[in-house]
Amino acid sequence: MQIPQPELLQLFPKPVLIAKYHQDFSKELEYVQGLEHKLNPKAEGDYAKQSSNTFLLDEPELARIREFIDVYLKFYVHNILECSDELFVTQAWTNICEKGKKHHEHNHPNSIVSGVFYFQINEKLPPIEFRNPNTHSFNLNIQKQNNFNSATFLLPLNSGELILFPSNLTHGVPENKSKQPRISLAFNTFAKGSLGCKETLTYLPLDRCS
Ligand SMILES: [Fe+2]
Repeated sequence: MQIPQPELLQLFPKPVLIAKYHQDFSKELEYVQGLEHKLNPKAEGDYAKQSSNTFLLDEPELARIREFIDVYLKFYVHNILECSDELFVTQAWTNICEKGKKHHEHNHPNSIVSGVFYFQINEKLPPIEFRNPNTHSFNLNIQKQNNFNSATFLLPLNSGELILFPSNLTHGVPENKSKQPRISLAFNTFAKGSLGCKETLTYLPLDRCS
């Protein structure tokens, strides 16, 4: 039966931004490859290694990448979230995911927006898988996957791309099936100064919390 096309609202979608770094980043990649990386003491055997330095975006060797990230972080906050708050990078670390390694599903507590810059990935193997926060527990017989019915989404990406996403969006790193190690830089952010306002009793004076 033919029915008139109904209206469909896509309520509360999650904004995941993808931006390409168009300059050469071989020097930065070389710097990252020379850093000490080790297994997180809380992780089990088949996980990716993490840099010992977790404030890497403060390092002058990564200043150009930092500048690129800051531009898109501002864009995300002002043009997508349409907020007047300023976010700054809190911690930033690199991950080296060798063949056969992965990272379990997680989100990023104590952060507002998180991001990953991909230094080196196999472009045929998506390096991140997001979990749909809106799925329910009934197992319907899905005929065609879409944004409403998929439990997870594997995001295909290229080397030199940055993604930004809400920190509470659960994601994992699928096993690296390529011989080439997957190298990425991840970071968290938080708001500068204060959040909320006194009139609505939501004032959080971050500058008074130290
Ligand atoms: Fe993550």
